[in-house]
Amino acid sequence: MRSVIDILDLSVCELDELIKTACDMIENPEKYSDICRGKKLATLFFEPSTRTRLSFESAMLELGGSVIGFSDAKNTSASKGETVADTARVVSCYADIIAMRHPLEGAPLVASLNASIPVINAGDGGHAHPTQTLADLLTIHREKGRFNDLTVGFCGDLKYGRPVHSLIHALSRYTGIKIVLISPSELVLPENIKHDVIEKHNMPYVETDDLESVLPELDILYMTRVQGERFDDQDEYERLKSRYILNAEKMKSAKSDMIVLHPLPRVEEISVDIDKDPRACYFKQVANGKIMRKALILKLLSEAKLEHPARNENYTYTATNPCTHKRCISQVERGLDFAVIQSGESKCCAYCESVIKN
Ligand code: CP
Repeated sequence: MRSVIDILDLSVCELDELIKTACDMIENPEKYSDICRGKKLATLFFEPSTRTRLSFESAMLELGGSVIGFSDAKNTSASKGETVADTARVVSCYADIIAMRHPLEGAPLVASLNASIPVINAGDGGHAHPTQTLADLLTIHREKGRFNDLTVGFCGDLKYGRPVHSLIHALSRYTGIKIVLISPSELVLPENIKHDVIEKHNMPYVETDDLESVLPELDILYMTRVQGERFDDQDEYERLKSRYILNAEKMKSAKSDMIVLHPLPRVEEISVDIDKDPRACYFKQVANGKIMRKALILKLLSEAKLEHPARNENYTYTATNPCTHKRCISQVERGLDFAVIQSGESKCCAYCESVIKN
């Protein structure tokens, strides 16, 4: 069963196809208005969301399908101790496709290994957010007209910002991409993404904590919120949350065709005084997110065949849990097969991709 848990689950060709379908959906919405009649989307949101959940639901309704789901795990049997695997098996009896958001990293992967319908990762902890990347890619396509030869700055919480992680993975497959990582030292990009994605693909990159010094060279500035909900130390969050504030004054030094992206919600990191600047594209991203989710739902439902889930052949299964990341689904899910991905000398958890040290 085809699921999308990571942006790399979609090939570059498939991304191009999704963008082509999305553009056709914008031009000819009536062509698609009944195309998923009789199909149901289940939105299983164990963590708060405005954009992702409502855009998935809106997308399915615009395709002529219907929607079931929940937006608060407290009202589900997860609060009584039901596992993610059992939830996925049960929902497979009620719906044709699942969009799942979960605070634990790897939870949508566990769901996909147990569901008999496609599962889409709608954001898992600080790990990945592939459909946000689809929104980002359509926005870049429409605003810049290319995915190659771009200098892309990521600013803010690069440690916990899952849209940053997924977009860097996506950009690693294009040429001429230069990455500028702008964060305080406490919120730098995880080492595994720096080494296994940026360095492995020979992408030139710089790290700095000074936004103003690099702003003039950027083609895209990807701002992020400092993710207070993922901090153990709330004092540290208070100290870092307003570290970067993009405003009209700072935008004067940016290129005239630079675009500002942000997955939203924003807090203070983008001042409202640039909302009317034509370079501010974060609300266009929201609209593009719904269209790309429509295209993805249609693709996965078109490909869906009834098959039983299989163990992934790329994983090595272990008797005990080698993952020590405390926000990994493997720390709580009963009956889980502990799985490792081996790449040369290095190993990582199959669920949250944390590096496993010997
Ligand atoms: N961008 C994004 O994931 O927003 P929500 O948390 O509101 O879904």
